[in-house]
Amino acid sequence: MTIKNNISIIVAIAQNFAIGKNNDLLFHLPNDLKRFKEITTGKTLIMGRNTLLSLPKWPLPNRRHIVISDKINDCFEGCEVISSIDEALEKVNNEQEAFIIGGGMVYRQFYPMAKKLYLTLVHKDFDADVFFPEIDYNEWQEESREDLYDDKNNFRYSYLNLLRK
Ligand SMILES: NC(=O)c1ccc[n+]([C@@H]2O[C@H](COP(=O)([O-])OP(=O)(O)OC[C@H]3O[C@@H](n4cnc5c(N)ncnc54)[C@H](OP(=O)(O)O)[C@@H]3O)[C@@H](O)[C@H]2O)c1
Repeated sequence: MTIKNNISIIVAIAQNFAIGKNNDLLFHLPNDLKRFKEITTGKTLIMGRNTLLSLPKWPLPNRRHIVISDKINDCFEGCEVISSIDEALEKVNNEQEAFIIGGGMVYRQFYPMAKKLYLTLVHKDFDADVFFPEIDYNEWQEESREDLYDDKNNFRYSYLNLLRK
């Protein structure tokens, strides 16, 4: 698989690679939502239809939304709906960095070609029905790491930015 230098993935993952359940997130971590906003504002977001529908409100301000779905006649306000990974790549061809924001099905297809990962790792297992592909850390080089603790959730978590070697 050819690596696409402008494709980044941003995701919050539990220790067991869990990312979602019942088309919702597994935990509420306001600090992480703030980080997501800071990193993605002004950029293009690529997502599956389930992830769009899981958002409380869309479009998210100041971001271009590309939604992948076979139901291209469905109209989602403020979003460009396309029906393949190739079309998504073509749409962001001239952009310096575009963000894959989920969910499980879409992460699986883009993971092999992504150049950068912005991970939020929660150091706890969660019951889930959607998972991120298992990460082989030998394939990635650590760019930055921040270890934190959330009092309300009572768990440790880390922000980890990784670049493909
Ligand atoms: N932890 C995190 O950071 C994070 C981030 C995002 C989402 N999530 C969670 O992930 C879950 C949703 O993930 P998911 O796997 O169910 O769904 P998803 O990846 O968001 O969307 C899947 C849908 O996208 C469309 N799609 C995907 N690939 C396609 C392709 N190659 N061609 C055409 N259409 C394609 C299909 O839509 P159609 O059925 O319309 O054809 C498919 O049903 C939720 O629980 C959400 O909360 C977690």
